Amino acid sequence: MTSIEQEINALRDELNRHNHNYYVLNSPTITDMEFDLKLKQLQKLEEENPQFFDANSPTQRVGSDINLDFEQVEHDTPMLSLGNTYNEQEINDFWTRTMRQLNEPFEICCELKFDGTAISLKYEHGELVRAVTRGDGRKGDDVTRNVRTIKSIPLRLSGNYPDSLEMRGEIIMPHAGFEQINRQREDIGEQPFANPRNAAAGSLKLQNSRMVAQRPLDCILYYVLCDELPSDRHANNLEAARAWGFKISPHFKVCRSQAEIMDFIHHWATEREHLPYDIDGIVFKVNSLSQQKRMGLTAKNPRWAISYKFKAEQAHSPLIRIDYQVGRTGAVTPVANVEPVQLAGTIVRRASLHNADIIASLDLHDNDTVVIEKGGEIIPKIVAVDIDKRPAGSTPVVFPTHCPECGAKLVREEGEAAFYCPNSAGCRPQITGKLIHFVSRKAMNIDSIGEETIEALYKNGLVSDIPDLYSLTVEKLLPLDRMARKSALNIVQGIRASLDVPFERVLFALGIRFVGETTAKTLASAFETIEHLAEASVEQLMAAEDIGSKTAQSVFDYLHSPDNITRIDRLKLCGLKFAKEKTETVSDHLNGMTFVISGTFEHHSRDEIKALIERHGGKMVSSISAKTSYLIAGDNMGPSKREKAEKLGIRMINEEETLKLIGQSE
Ligand code: IVH
Repeated sequence: MTSIEQEINALRDELNRHNHNYYVLNSPTITDMEFDLKLKQLQKLEEENPQFFDANSPTQRVGSDINLDFEQVEHDTPMLSLGNTYNEQEINDFWTRTMRQLNEPFEICCELKFDGTAISLKYEHGELVRAVTRGDGRKGDDVTRNVRTIKSIPLRLSGNYPDSLEMRGEIIMPHAGFEQINRQREDIGEQPFANPRNAAAGSLKLQNSRMVAQRPLDCILYYVLCDELPSDRHANNLEAARAWGFKISPHFKVCRSQAEIMDFIHHWATEREHLPYDIDGIVFKVNSLSQQKRMGLTAKNPRWAISYKFKAEQAHSPLIRIDYQVGRTGAVTPVANVEPVQLAGTIVRRASLHNADIIASLDLHDNDTVVIEKGGEIIPKIVAVDIDKRPAGSTPVVFPTHCPECGAKLVREEGEAAFYCPNSAGCRPQITGKLIHFVSRKAMNIDSIGEETIEALYKNGLVSDIPDLYSLTVEKLLPLDRMARKSALNIVQGIRASLDVPFERVLFALGIRFVGETTAKTLASAFETIEHLAEASVEQLMAAEDIGSKTAQSVFDYLHSPDNITRIDRLKLCGLKFAKEKTETVSDHLNGMTFVISGTFEHHSRDEIKALIERHGGKMVSSISAKTSYLIAGDNMGPSKREKAEKLGIRMINEEETLKLIGQSE
């Protein structure tokens, strides 16, 4: 082994260990920055030595851009589901049945029933080789590329693991990540996920693993399959699997009596509120594998296991009033106000109704008593109406036809669930909402201005559109209520400092629908200036990485609206950055050459290749023309790009040739 290879392997081992400490054990031993530094170091070594590529390297956890239709693969052992029970009597029946069948003492391993999506992970010689969804139980989707991005799943096992192993478990999205992702989605006008289970399942089936890598997924394993298991006891095998690097829940318990089982149920029925993720019940498994074998299976379920499902906690309460909230995109969201009622440890006063369709499908009437449920989300939702309590003569709730804030007639676009207020320039919550987004941390990060200040600035006629912020002075601010000279100075300084914010964040700050942080970054690097972006057709916008038709159309519409053109022109005059800063060049090898890149590459991401080209003086453009010097062609390249390149006689080069051209490859 060469010393470079040794260095690479040592770094990979070290980073795997840190990932395990962080994602599985929740106890990191180095700072995030130190971790990033080491990861970059490894990335660099791997880039320079592509012969040591390894799909299971910690650097590969970032995903790739390949679009894949998932391949269906058959499970070696079918993935059965469990019989469900909803009451304690049925659990006692399970106990009695087991006692009768086994006719000898037995243990029951009680586990939490994680509410996510089931996964099978196969390892050969300690390496993750395949991850497959449950599918229909017999066959599932091969989602290996996506699963590799989930940091709590070991890509390489440690300790005394079996040579060939299958682990089964659940991919979940913990509450914190779920909330965050839904906030981001709502922020850019996307429909939020209904619950963490849907979010986990949806994320796992994304076509682009780079996007999966950004989803806060976690994986808890609960079943070990291999020829020679360490123990006849399931619980011991779980402990062994923990030592191999898997995340195993600490909350399983081996019970020897019905009373202990009932205690476990009662404990978790309330304690589950304090878990950072959703569980929807308890699973009971006969602990001895030889006893499991003796009990066998029915057509669909094993006889040796059963699940107890919690009933979703519900509360009934009279509806007081529905508020129609107008968001910064103009979407109108109905929120129900109910008589305060106790539900799963908190007092509920408000519950989401999502949209007009939901109100209609509930057949909600004024003064109805509603049934409220708490799912994974913090805001409870109304799931039904208690018809028996409907007062005589009450009438159906009618969704307003006009904006409750500004009176404009609401519109609903084809295929959209929400009604919108079209008066974006004159509707208070839309204006202040856009301003609040503009100054927020991830946008322009003007932290001296909070929501209250925005409301005050608007109310006092000082600011009614984003560019107005840039003409604020200390003198104009001082007359505001409770405004000290020092705060006014902070505000003005904060605004001035925002002139240094890079183009991609300015683009995000504008609040274009469907343009989140990542999309803004992509657009900024693909088009470089606002002028190029504004000249692009919808098709050209779609040619950029991960930009779908909905986003492309939204960007196009935004940049062609006269109001927005004026707004951007004003912001340009104020000195905001509307062009991407040039990357530092290290050589001029590629001066005067233009490149188009398409497809995916074995050793580098597209962004990495683009950055390399630019650092050596080359120019990246998004579409092929007669002036293009080279088309860098990867796997799964779009056929139209190839055709166009052939027609215009543009040279196509692969990854290796590109590196040679740069002078990087030996
Ligand atoms: S054991 C044959 N254990 O619930 C054993 N399943 O219908 C099968 N689940 O599809 C699974 N937590 O997705 C088991 N601790 C746990 C579980 C669990 C959640 C899911 C799993 C399965 C379904 C059972």
